[in-house]
Amino acid sequence: MLKQQLQLLHLIGDGGFHDIDTLAANMAATPQAVSALLSQLDDDGFVVRVRNETEYALDMPVDWLSEGSIREYLEPIAAQCFKRIEVLDSVDSTSRWLAQCPPPEVHRATVCMAESQSAGRGRLGRTWVSPPAVNLYLSLNWRFEAGPEVVQGLSLALGVALAEACENLGIPGVGLKWPNDLVCTRGKLGGILIELGRDGSAGVGPPVCAIIGIGINANRSSPQSQVIDQPAADLNTLKGGQISRNRLAGEVLNKTHQVLAAYMLDGFAPYRERWLQRDIFLNQQVEISGGSRTLAGTAIGIDERGAYLVHTADGTLPIMSGTVRLSSGQ
Ligand code: BTN
Repeated sequence: MLKQQLQLLHLIGDGGFHDIDTLAANMAATPQAVSALLSQLDDDGFVVRVRNETEYALDMPVDWLSEGSIREYLEPIAAQCFKRIEVLDSVDSTSRWLAQCPPPEVHRATVCMAESQSAGRGRLGRTWVSPPAVNLYLSLNWRFEAGPEVVQGLSLALGVALAEACENLGIPGVGLKWPNDLVCTRGKLGGILIELGRDGSAGVGPPVCAIIGIGINANRSSPQSQVIDQPAADLNTLKGGQISRNRLAGEVLNKTHQVLAAYMLDGFAPYRERWLQRDIFLNQQVEISGGSRTLAGTAIGIDERGAYLVHTADGTLPIMSGTVRLSSGQ
């Protein structure tokens, strides 16, 4: 279904009107099947227009991802680091795709992006809903000479990178929810999933190969994603206009490169203040759930490792993993 949807988008993505019989012939499908796919596109938030009952068009052309366009936005140092940028039409997960690539050399990364994912992975085993041709699904690999402990602060530092990338696009009001959700008042805009292997293999220990997966709702917050964790939001709504995904990808890669290069030298400490400035729950009553436990208290920020600090009746506790929400009743 996803592949056929993409095939149809490639045929009608120019914004012009197309006859349904011609579309069906080009897709080796029946007009009824094409009609069902057009309805599905409509459900996914594309505006499909009809003329003379048999001609269909999108209200605006599809802004396809392209390596060439993305490279126009890359700073020279980032372009040198990201020598290989693979843009796929559809894949199960860009992170799983990268896990099958050879491990990167130091200060080099392979980037994989896709127009859609059939099995996008989120934190804590959740699904990352990945509708076609509207959002950003991006993974890259990075080699660290340190051990797996490197990841805790890294994921928070990358959250700062994503928020700053959005600000460079003129998008206001992007905050962070611990550990690394990109959020606004309407809901979740994006997230980061870091998966580890030792030098590209399954074991973990120095050197570590991190696969960094980034998902950002650029132009569509899929209704399905609202049932997963929290309401979904998108940058388009925040900005009040279409987001260029190629430019967003370029900004994300520039900022991600800056963070990775600096993190190798100085770790998380330089990012703590920048993270705190965007902390949406600072000084509020929160609940943190993880495993079978739920803990309640006042959120007072993060420590220099990136652990979440919660002031409870038993004192201030550093939390290393879990899901944070505002206490019920607030
Ligand atoms: C989260 O749960 O907040 C993290 C979501 C990470 C999703 C991205 S999309 C690109 C990459 N490929 C995946 O399968 N997951 C990550």
